[in-house]
Amino acid sequence: MIYADITGWGRCLPPAVLTNADIETLMDTSNEWIVSRTGIQERRISHVTNAELARVASARALAAAGISAEQVDMIAFATSTPDECIPNTASMLQNALGASNAAAVDINAACTGFVYSFNMMSDMIRAGSIKTALVVGSERLSSLMNWSLRESAILFGDGAGAIVLQASDNEAGFVAGKLGCVPDTRELLAVPDFGLDAIAQFRPLDVSIVFSGQEIFKKAVKGMGDACEAVVAEAGLGLDDLDLIIPHQANARIVEAVVRRIGGDMDKVVLTLDKYANTSTSSIPIALIEALEQGRVKPGMNILFTAFGAGLTWGASLLKWGERVTPLGETDISLPPTDKTGLDLINAAIARRQAYEQTN
Ligand code: ACO
Repeated sequence: MIYADITGWGRCLPPAVLTNADIETLMDTSNEWIVSRTGIQERRISHVTNAELARVASARALAAAGISAEQVDMIAFATSTPDECIPNTASMLQNALGASNAAAVDINAACTGFVYSFNMMSDMIRAGSIKTALVVGSERLSSLMNWSLRESAILFGDGAGAIVLQASDNEAGFVAGKLGCVPDTRELLAVPDFGLDAIAQFRPLDVSIVFSGQEIFKKAVKGMGDACEAVVAEAGLGLDDLDLIIPHQANARIVEAVVRRIGGDMDKVVLTLDKYANTSTSSIPIALIEALEQGRVKPGMNILFTAFGAGLTWGASLLKWGERVTPLGETDISLPPTDKTGLDLINAAIARRQAYEQTN
């Protein structure tokens, strides 16, 4: 039996912080509203591209695994905010890392993209098709924001997380997974005009996230709850056997409702929403690495991932952590410095949008 063990991990959070108090200067909202409705206190804003965030997180993950980029057979780059569509962002990352032997694919399942990628790459390793995979969730969601829309602008942040999966004889890694997509709900969460149709019609560029928060809330609780129960049952475990629950970080109230629905224990949940907000595909690897750095991950633990996103896609993964909880190595690769605050970067983005709107 071949297992797909997690042998390396790395994350990259851009340094510029945008607090709720900063957002109060941009729109009619309040720290009290944001914290009480979502649990978010601040988020990071990137001064570099999505691929650059991914490159730094990936270099750290490779160093933690103690392998070179040439040893990677496949890169799965989960993102909702690709810098470019053709060629894909995964090939940009492959080039930047020097991962010359790796196949490269972008995976777009919105916020569920990391869970999709983790399950798919684990299955490829377990089937013997590949030996080593780099699975990345990376987002620059701040570039998608319309900062005049308070219902969406408060929710998201930028960041990247990466893990290395390697074939192993040791019983570790992916145990069970479940993926799906709720039919006839595509209109509940979308970025209209973020694709070729708008380009083909020469519609003026006006991207904004449009969503129906309360409908998504209900469907997210059911979708993630059902997926969690399915993977725990498939693994032949009970809820008490779970040691850590690492959910997609969209809203603290959604996480609490999912955990209540499945009869889980909030003490086992990893929440990073307060510091990083919703970082879509990167929220689970960022939270996993936070748990590792805090010493919350122990050898042999049963860990549950679950996510929900536009589509409406949903999924869960159950994994068994291996032996090692510390990195084998480190790298000095990091982002270029910036002296800009989160508010500086957002004010510059608002000025660019206004200039564009005046000329189109
Ligand atoms: N500040 C102040 N008031 C606000 C803000 C804001 N930023 N945004 C909305 N409001 C107002 C609304 O205008 C409304 O006012 P009204 O009662 O006078 O009409 C009131 O607050 C309530 O608005 P709701 O949308 O009903 O607020 P709700 O409690 O549902 O919270 C939220 C909104 C946080 C988006 C919630 O629905 C949610 O988390 N939904 C699911 C997550 C989601 O959709 N995330 C998008 C990404 S998808 C994903 O990651 C899976």
